[in-house]
Amino acid sequence: MNLLEIKDLKVSVKDKVILDGFNLEIKPGEVHVIMGPNGSGKSTLSNIICGKSGYVIENGDINYESNNLLDLSIDERAAKGIFLAFQHPIEIPGVNSLNFIKESINTIRKNKNEKPFDTLEFLNLIKEKQKSLEIKDSFLKRDVNVGFSGGEKKRFDILHMLMLDPKLVILDEIDSGLDIDALKLVSEVVNKFKDSNKAFLIITHYQRLLDYIKPDVIHIMQNGKIIDSGDKSFATLLEKEGYSAFGK
Ligand SMILES: Nc1ncnc2c1ncn2[C@@H]1O[C@H](COP(=O)(O)OP(=O)(O)O)[C@@H](O)[C@H]1O
Ligand SMILES: [Mg+2]
Repeated sequence: MNLLEIKDLKVSVKDKVILDGFNLEIKPGEVHVIMGPNGSGKSTLSNIICGKSGYVIENGDINYESNNLLDLSIDERAAKGIFLAFQHPIEIPGVNSLNFIKESINTIRKNKNEKPFDTLEFLNLIKEKQKSLEIKDSFLKRDVNVGFSGGEKKRFDILHMLMLDPKLVILDEIDSGLDIDALKLVSEVVNKFKDSNKAFLIITHYQRLLDYIKPDVIHIMQNGKIIDSGDKSFATLLEKEGYSAFGK
């Protein structure tokens, strides 16, 4: 059974069609990669799946587990295990990073009728995950993303992901802003987190991420739809010949 199923999706923003005829099926345990030129609609797709507002769904369906995803609010989607690491994480001045993750995990627990974590439980849980990402306590005392370097934002996002323990993880250009050591570290953490119940949708421009996180399928996206799908050799071909090599 598919975890995520997108059928003939058409989406517009302010009368501009961004996705059109978009189809995608992802099974639990799979790692899908989307590569595509700037402006092809990759971030829009991520936003639509996680439930961000401001888009008009003109046509199509999105099913997740046995739910019509489009009927669910952004919070309900998060509670059902959908997580998106944004391409451009937002700064939230005045909100402490540690509290941000605690609030977010407890909102999800509440939505699932689970008891919220008390401070001690929460701190015990986050400690080991912090360690795996080499994130110091002092870092989490800062306001969310304020003054974080590109790499720090991405590591913070991955920490958030580990804490929420989602089933469908969407990483939108997680590799941009990461130096090679941070890329390796983040990839290792993601690989450890992967299991047969979870699926990944990874958006990237670069083959180097795929040296560390092995994809099952690579999709090439252009003008709001997938024009070609194949195995990891696609990334090498793309690096050599560019997007014109696909969709013929
Ligand atoms: N809120 C918006 N208002 C107007 N145009 C938008 C908006 N969001 C996205 N777009 C446009 O939709 C197209 C796809 O954007 P995006 O999904 O960010 O592409 P990608 O992530 O593949 O680079 C771009 O032309 C972009 O300018
Ligand atoms: Mg984008």
